[in-house]
Amino acid sequence: MAEFEVPVLSIKNLNKQFGKGCPYCQDEESLVKNYCPVCGTVYACRDVSFDVFPGEVLGIVGESGSGKSTLMQCLYFDQEVTNGEAYLADYHNGEKNLFQESSQQQRYIRNNIMGKVYQNPLLGLKMNFSSIGNIAEKLIAAGNQHVGMMENRGTELLNKVNIPVHRRKEAPKNFSGGMQQRVQIAKALSNRPPLLLLDEVTTGLDLSVQASVLDLIKSLQRELNISIVLVSHDLGVIRMLADRTLVMLEGRVIEQGLTDQILEDPQHRYTQQLVHSLL
Ligand SMILES: Nc1ncnc2c1ncn2[C@@H]1O[C@H](COP(=O)(O)OP(=O)(O)O)[C@@H](O)[C@H]1O
Ligand SMILES: [Mg+2]
Ligand SMILES: [Zn+2]
Repeated sequence: MAEFEVPVLSIKNLNKQFGKGCPYCQDEESLVKNYCPVCGTVYACRDVSFDVFPGEVLGIVGESGSGKSTLMQCLYFDQEVTNGEAYLADYHNGEKNLFQESSQQQRYIRNNIMGKVYQNPLLGLKMNFSSIGNIAEKLIAAGNQHVGMMENRGTELLNKVNIPVHRRKEAPKNFSGGMQQRVQIAKALSNRPPLLLLDEVTTGLDLSVQASVLDLIKSLQRELNISIVLVSHDLGVIRMLADRTLVMLEGRVIEQGLTDQILEDPQHRYTQQLVHSLL
């Protein structure tokens, strides 16, 4: 990654708290982990900053509750940030803070510049629609109207994620967990976004299915040269796919670097534990 390279996505000092806070938790020392025992406020993301570069897979790893999903929800506007900045190279040349754009503009960004795959396919798919219908929905949201073109694109995408074309009219509710994630991936890629957000996409799948979905992601990433933010509690998943990795703990990024470096020479105590449990 060259230093002069312009990031696809740039996040600066992102904070997300659930709750209003109180005089007691003004002092961070009073928190229990990232939680205020007096007012119940959770400081889910604290001062998170990072860049994602073109064609890069950025891994985010951390234990359950460390703020990974909240961060991804903020990036996809599923949650409103408490404060912070986000810039996309493909949106007004990276000059507008996405978090201050109107909800209409944010919808445009979601539909055209990003794709997201959720751990829970119920959040990413309409289970009773046909699979190709799920893809068409995202194509329509980006302004497509031509039915024949959408059929072609939908078929091409399902083919790319190894869903048999003759099953394109079937609803995802009939599919296995691995196939549902494949349909989500096809949908997320449908408008050729430069950035893909993946939140625990293989968690809960059988190991062999998990491996095949991760392989698919890897080969699509190479083919499309798309940038990916990949979130997982499983360092094994991160190791397989991420070029660079951030480690989150209690809402903060406590360590970051090349994945190989982090695996070989973890600096933070918590990261050392994570790496050791992998061996
Ligand atoms: N909608 C919400 N309301 C209140 N607290 C929440 C909400 N969503 C997440 N949290 C809290 O924020 C913290 C981070 O959660 P999450 O982002 O889901 O972590 P992770 O994905 O790393 O497991 C947790 O303490 C969680 O309980
Ligand atoms: Mg999560
Ligand atoms: Zn408080």
